[in-house]
Amino acid sequence: LHLFGTERLNSKGLDLSDAVQLSEIGKDVQKFANEGWHGAPIIGGIEQTGATHPVMSPSDRRNKVGEIAWASTEQAQNALARADRAWWGWDQTSATARGDCLDRMADLLEENTAEFIALCMREAGKTTADAIAEIREAVDFCRYYAVKCRQDFGDPLVMPGPTGERNELSMHGRGVFLCISPWNFPLAIFLGQVSAALAAGNAVIAKPAEQTGLVAVRAIKLFHQAGVPGDVLHLLPGDGPTVAGPLLADDRIKGVAFTGSTETAKLIQRALAAREGEIVPLIAETGGQNAMIVDSTALPEQIVRDVLASSFQSAGQRCSALRVLFLQEDVADKILTMLAGAMDELTVGDSSFLSTDVGPVIDEDALTMLNAHISHMKSQAKVIRELSLPSSTSNGAFVAPVTFEIEGLHQLKQEVFGPVLHVIRYKASELDSIIDQINNSGFGLTLGIHSRIDETVDYIARRVRVGNTYVNRNQIGAIVGVQPFGGMGLSGTGPKAGGPRYLHRFATEHSISIDT
Ligand code: SER
Repeated sequence: LHLFGTERLNSKGLDLSDAVQLSEIGKDVQKFANEGWHGAPIIGGIEQTGATHPVMSPSDRRNKVGEIAWASTEQAQNALARADRAWWGWDQTSATARGDCLDRMADLLEENTAEFIALCMREAGKTTADAIAEIREAVDFCRYYAVKCRQDFGDPLVMPGPTGERNELSMHGRGVFLCISPWNFPLAIFLGQVSAALAAGNAVIAKPAEQTGLVAVRAIKLFHQAGVPGDVLHLLPGDGPTVAGPLLADDRIKGVAFTGSTETAKLIQRALAAREGEIVPLIAETGGQNAMIVDSTALPEQIVRDVLASSFQSAGQRCSALRVLFLQEDVADKILTMLAGAMDELTVGDSSFLSTDVGPVIDEDALTMLNAHISHMKSQAKVIRELSLPSSTSNGAFVAPVTFEIEGLHQLKQEVFGPVLHVIRYKASELDSIIDQINNSGFGLTLGIHSRIDETVDYIARRVRVGNTYVNRNQIGAIVGVQPFGGMGLSGTGPKAGGPRYLHRFATEHSISIDT
């Protein structure tokens, strides 16, 4: 895919259907099978010391991935002071030079693909295919924002005016941005936020999820190698209250990018609002109660393929994942029979096996929450299909994919972040009512539509308030620069990641008028 003339190509990633590529990458990834990674806060380009926590694989809690030192509040303060002194110099660095750093970072990620695949598989429990897609997306974010940086942060716009003055409009960083990222895309979302904030001319303090600090450490080291000065980019692995809490209260933080739960986004918003100083932006990407609406004209094989990918790929741990499938009653029995059969073909297991379709969930807390939801659903809904877990999964955090039939969206109080699908039957005459149910949930992230009637597709797409609608395909895996991603309402503030206006929210604008 070719965008912006000859300036950028989306990363090709790796082709798993190519036996030669597969065997080569398999051997390279295997070299990291017993690697023990070490991570620590990185401040001013230097790795810090501190008490370390062991990092165990979600696929097998006996498999030690490495260890990581978490940042202290004092280290966070040190990083902030240094970033605050450094940001202006970075903002004054030319957009071309900043863009070049991002492009070099993309190249370095590609050169280190095998290590990142291994790390994503072992630390985050990603399947091989998901790990490859993750790296590809991270590369795309860097290259896309590099282009947007040069386009929008280079020469000022000259604004025509009636007076003979020369009027220029330029874009700049805001200061120090705090980037708080999730474990489900430990490289792609992590680097998406960081590369955008840097491209716009900010210094960055990155706080990765507790569960996936090692991926973040490796990535930040590459960013420094790519030319971003040590004091412009700091990494603080650790827990939220210790690391992010005091930073959010500090007026030197001039903006926050956050991806995670709606509850945490609101806590951040409150913390920012409680400060004495200036009003600063929060860019939040949060959850969804994502639906797919299927009418009786849709193609059954296509529906089943897309439901399977949307609900169970990545063990359902995508904010875009399908949670509620609305099936028109005339075709519901047929589709559910086919879906149950297709679910039987899924292989659940250790993410290091190429044959695995559904890997583990991230940790014991996620497992407990999902198991509680599944038990509750069993008491009030019909089980369409629940897979059983192979004995090889007994040492990991595994949830068997399950599909329930429920009566209405009111039965789901919150987002269920795992391989659990809920199905609701509807009559053709109830289309408006289900659209209202979806809108009334308050979430607005992704929507799937399967229908062969253009008017139906158009009507639903116009009425349902979501950020990303996908028609006659799956509803996951937005591609940078192609499907800018992000929701509305309880699902986030916008702007869309991987979209043409994302960098603007990280920036300020300056108009200069000179009487000539
Ligand atoms: N961007 C991801 C997707 O589209 C979700 O976070 O699936």
